[in-house]
Amino acid sequence: MQTDRKRRREKQVAGVHCRVSLLALSAVTKRYPGVTALDAVDFTVEAGVVHAVVGENGAGKSTLLKLVAGAERPDAGEIRWDGAPVTFASPRDALRRGITVIYQELALVPNLGADANIFLGMERAHGGVLQADAMRAAAAKALGELGLFIDPAQPVARLSVAQRQLVELARALVRDARLVALDEPTATLTAHEVAHLATQIDRLTTKGIAVVFVSHRLDEVRRLASRITVLRDGRRVWTGATIEVDEAALIRHMVGRDVAYQRHPAGRAPHSAPVLEVQGLTRSPAFYDVSFSLRPGEIVGMAGLVGAGRSEVARALAGIEPWAAGAVSLSGTPYRPRSPREAIDRGLAYLPEDRQRDGLVLRFTVRENVTLPVLRRFAARGQIRREDEIRGARAAATAVDLRPAPPDIERPTVQLSGGNQQKVVVAKWLLTDARIIVFDEPTRGVDVGAKVDLHRQIRSLADLGKAVLLISSELPELLALADRVLVMRAGRVAGELAGEALSAERVMALAVEAQ
Ligand SMILES: Nc1ncnc2c1ncn2[C@@H]1O[C@H](COP(=O)(O)OP(=O)(O)OP(=O)(O)O)[C@@H](O)[C@H]1O
Ligand SMILES: [Mg+2]
Repeated sequence: MQTDRKRRREKQVAGVHCRVSLLALSAVTKRYPGVTALDAVDFTVEAGVVHAVVGENGAGKSTLLKLVAGAERPDAGEIRWDGAPVTFASPRDALRRGITVIYQELALVPNLGADANIFLGMERAHGGVLQADAMRAAAAKALGELGLFIDPAQPVARLSVAQRQLVELARALVRDARLVALDEPTATLTAHEVAHLATQIDRLTTKGIAVVFVSHRLDEVRRLASRITVLRDGRRVWTGATIEVDEAALIRHMVGRDVAYQRHPAGRAPHSAPVLEVQGLTRSPAFYDVSFSLRPGEIVGMAGLVGAGRSEVARALAGIEPWAAGAVSLSGTPYRPRSPREAIDRGLAYLPEDRQRDGLVLRFTVRENVTLPVLRRFAARGQIRREDEIRGARAAATAVDLRPAPPDIERPTVQLSGGNQQKVVVAKWLLTDARIIVFDEPTRGVDVGAKVDLHRQIRSLADLGKAVLLISSELPELLALADRVLVMRAGRVAGELAGEALSAERVMALAVEAQ
């Protein structure tokens, strides 16, 4: 009896020291029609550890999370949870066992409050009566623990992306999650929000919660995760401790070669007259007195913090939102588009930041999306010349390196990985006759290798004589591509940098200078 208890005690102590794998996937395979998204992948996650998953667009990262979440079933292989084999019947089943997955596209019900979202499917009731007050108080407490002080009853649609992520994390906490997986949580966050999220993730691990973290931002991956798994074409190619790899080695595992940003200097200094002139553009409280010009053949970068008004200016120029004061001229004639259609007809194309909302019709195929703005060009006597359309779509899809290669242009875009959807948005504008192209965060969610390819595409558009306005929060991208950079701060152009004066330090100084 005595020895029995002693033995049990010893076993427990040993258990604390040898790390327990909470989740273990062995030889897991997942096929979709025409693609093996995951091919015999082994993957284990330990309690209290942040484990990052990285890889190129379409490598299988989101698919892996969907299996863990019970949203998809493996075609082969085994999943063990807490030491025993499991089959998740549904996302709710996985959630009940302690697994919360936060997807690339957030999954809250927009018109419900944070409280209702947090308790969805596990509402508290007493004697058949919903305990709304108790749930609201519990929700507020969980949100407060994560540093989010909001009215839990207001619809989550009114919250920022960062706030909605915290609501999903609060949901995990209220449900006593033991594993939280996040799919590219930082892609749309400001630096400040990323820091806050990182703190919260650290706190989860101190509670013994396992965290799986998918991201294309390798600096963050290296800061947050202690273990990293690299997927390539559905296979696991490397797993190890973060301290074992530097960024270059990680990229080599991901892409199979060295990748570095190249400076793409303008072929020649553009001397021609501006194709777009913006004078004193104002719409309070979004932007004030914005003036700049674009010449054919140049790439003008627009830097600034998230919220500085860059996208608002772009959306106004694209005819999506109006402006209140100021004047714009396009090739010397007044320009004031009342719709995106009018902007396109006048020769201004806009590549939006939010591909899901503005950029793509998800149920359309790649071809349909890519040729949508230019369909008229493929028409003769009221008929679409299908072969021309197919040829055009295929050329554009190849130019952006759509995966899997060679690109299948008849695939519905909803079936593409997140980064490949972004490439379709870019491909769409390669075909237009636009004289001016406004890119808003064109490489967000795109892997490092494909980024370099997109940079080459953008430079070649300028070399063809198009004027490019490039909004990017990634400074190395602006420095690699832009001939000059406008820096926006609090809705105004705080300065313009070119040549020798153009450096990361100068851009940051202008972007954050005290007002
Ligand atoms: N519902 C689906 N139907 C068909 N194919 C799919 C579906 N979902 C994903 N795929 C395919 O599976 C592969 C892996 O996609 P997945 O979304 O896991 O990539 P990812 O690594 O998350 O990429 P990204 O970095 O672009 O988000 C891709 O080739 C994708 O097109
Ligand atoms: Mg993905």
